[in-house]
Amino acid sequence: MENVKIVGCGYARASSKIENEALKKAVDTSDEWIQTRTGIASRYISETENTSDLAICAAQKAIQNAQINTSQISMIIVATCTPDNVTPSVACIVQEALGLNDKPVMAFDINAACSGFLFALQCAASMLQKGYALVIGAETLSKILDWSDRNTCVLFGDGAGAVLIQRAQDGSTMDFYARSKGDKEHALYCAGRSLQPDLENVAQDKPYLSMNGREVFRFAIQAMPDAIYGVLQGQPVEEMDLMIPHQANIRILEYVSKKMKFPMEKMFVNLDQFGNTSAASVPIALAQAWEEHKIKENMDLVLVGFGAGFTWAACKIHIEGGKHQ
Ligand code: ACO
Repeated sequence: MENVKIVGCGYARASSKIENEALKKAVDTSDEWIQTRTGIASRYISETENTSDLAICAAQKAIQNAQINTSQISMIIVATCTPDNVTPSVACIVQEALGLNDKPVMAFDINAACSGFLFALQCAASMLQKGYALVIGAETLSKILDWSDRNTCVLFGDGAGAVLIQRAQDGSTMDFYARSKGDKEHALYCAGRSLQPDLENVAQDKPYLSMNGREVFRFAIQAMPDAIYGVLQGQPVEEMDLMIPHQANIRILEYVSKKMKFPMEKMFVNLDQFGNTSAASVPIALAQAWEEHKIKENMDLVLVGFGAGFTWAACKIHIEGGKHQ
């Protein structure tokens, strides 16, 4: 358990809103297929932005929301699987944009796919000593999609969410649970530039996201309950006031809701507007819930995610009092 609390949140959308209907120009699909199989109605796609641009925008909004002095930020962690560069990290680009180059800041990226923000939050919460940690999930997945593959291109979107945390003395806490296993790498896969080409199976090494949807679905519906039960350590799930899950597919969320007897009304859902934004999905949803005053003092909420690797994770947040909205 870590004595930390959220002091501000922000999120950024990519520039171009794409409705399902518009995807019919690229692939053989329909609004009806996408909505009934996934719940997604639209997504935001980057026209000109890099992942860092979205990360900076979300960070600036979080700083404005928290009304803190930027110079007190001592750590920046960006979770992403679509960084601008192999190096430098998106986190260093954010540091530069925030004018923090001369400050004692540790800035780095992590990649745990769609679980990345939760992994980053756990790292920040356990390492933060003084000041504020800026934890961001940011993606431009549109840049690694094969826009002729209807199995993937209809599902994903671009965006960023940012959260500022600080050490808490008021009883606010965060608990974490994070797991990974690497035996199903090709269920959800995108080759990197430094990979040795597989001469016998060249198609597999294309730098586009490929997915076995059914395998990922099967994994997701057991990983999410595992992470939630893991983080709650015996506390009944019905005691949670709000759940903010990774926004991949409404059918996955409905399945988890039914299996865990946790009502959909207490689950925050925005995948209809954003699609799946991977590491940005949980912090965008968190920032939207924060903006809509759904996160209040004296409440318990659970963040939960799953992603490529496979990886899966959850965070229980207890908010005691102090500075919230
Ligand atoms: N439009 C129209 N038809 C399509 C489309 C599309 N966009 N995509 C696939 N189809 C077709 C298929 O070709 C198939 O046709 P066939 O029967 O003639 O072969 C048919 O629809 C059914 O395909 P399935 O893959 O069986 O469809 P399913 O009901 O499993 O739904 C989906 C697919 C939505 C991808 C589902 O498997 C799913 O949600 N899986 C989990 C995906 C997920 O969560 N991914 C991300 C998680 S991890 C992360 O966030 C990085």
